[in-house]
Amino acid sequence: MIATRLHPDKQSAAQAVAREIAGLIEIRSKSGKATVLGLATGSTPLPLYAELIRLHRESGLSFRSVITFNLDEYEGLGADHPQSYRRFMEEHLFRHLDIPAANIHIPDGLTKDAAGHCAAYEAAIRDAGGLDLQILGIGRTGHIGFNEPPSSCETRTRWVHLDEVTRRDNSVFFGDLNQVPHGALTMGVATILEARRIELLAFGEAKADIVARAIKETPSDGCPATWLQRHPACTFHLDAGAAQAL
Ligand code: PGA
Repeated sequence: MIATRLHPDKQSAAQAVAREIAGLIEIRSKSGKATVLGLATGSTPLPLYAELIRLHRESGLSFRSVITFNLDEYEGLGADHPQSYRRFMEEHLFRHLDIPAANIHIPDGLTKDAAGHCAAYEAAIRDAGGLDLQILGIGRTGHIGFNEPPSSCETRTRWVHLDEVTRRDNSVFFGDLNQVPHGALTMGVATILEARRIELLAFGEAKADIVARAIKETPSDGCPATWLQRHPACTFHLDAGAAQAL
């Protein structure tokens, strides 16, 4: 069952989700526990990251006890590539916070052993105690992370082939479709579903159809976001545009 929450705009959605994250960090750190966050890239989470940075600067929210796992990374792009998700996260979030570098995990797009690296990524999530809260966007193909259709609900962190729709959508960041990698490493659907809480954000009319499909269609490999219906605590945070087909 997916809960939906309609917000007046993306800034309000970002503030609501940032407050939840801050509350979780505060409660867990009071009892000496780490908070394990699953993080996403793309344009959707940017207002959320800006709000977390604001809370850190203005309200003293500390990220010293936070451990993060990003959903995915492009194949072949390392930390020094301007479009790598490692670079994206450094620029838009991590370098503005007090999170210890050792607590940050992002799949390594330059790995020569994708299977071994992905198995180690899954083990690292388990060793950290599992994801307390996962942030998600949604792609127009129905992907969560880079789990393009078809992706079963049993998929784990692995190498994937990117859908051409996704490559075209993401080419705005690269400036040229030919520069967009054809492959990526991504957490699997099963990895995501094991998070204790999931907060998906979607803004704008371009997401309206896929948001409606994710919520209304019978879960299937053909629209991986439909698997979220099986999660006990998943909320879609939407603005009016993204909610207009509901
Ligand atoms: P976007 O991507 O935030 O850039 O729209 C979302 C996604 O592909 O998950």
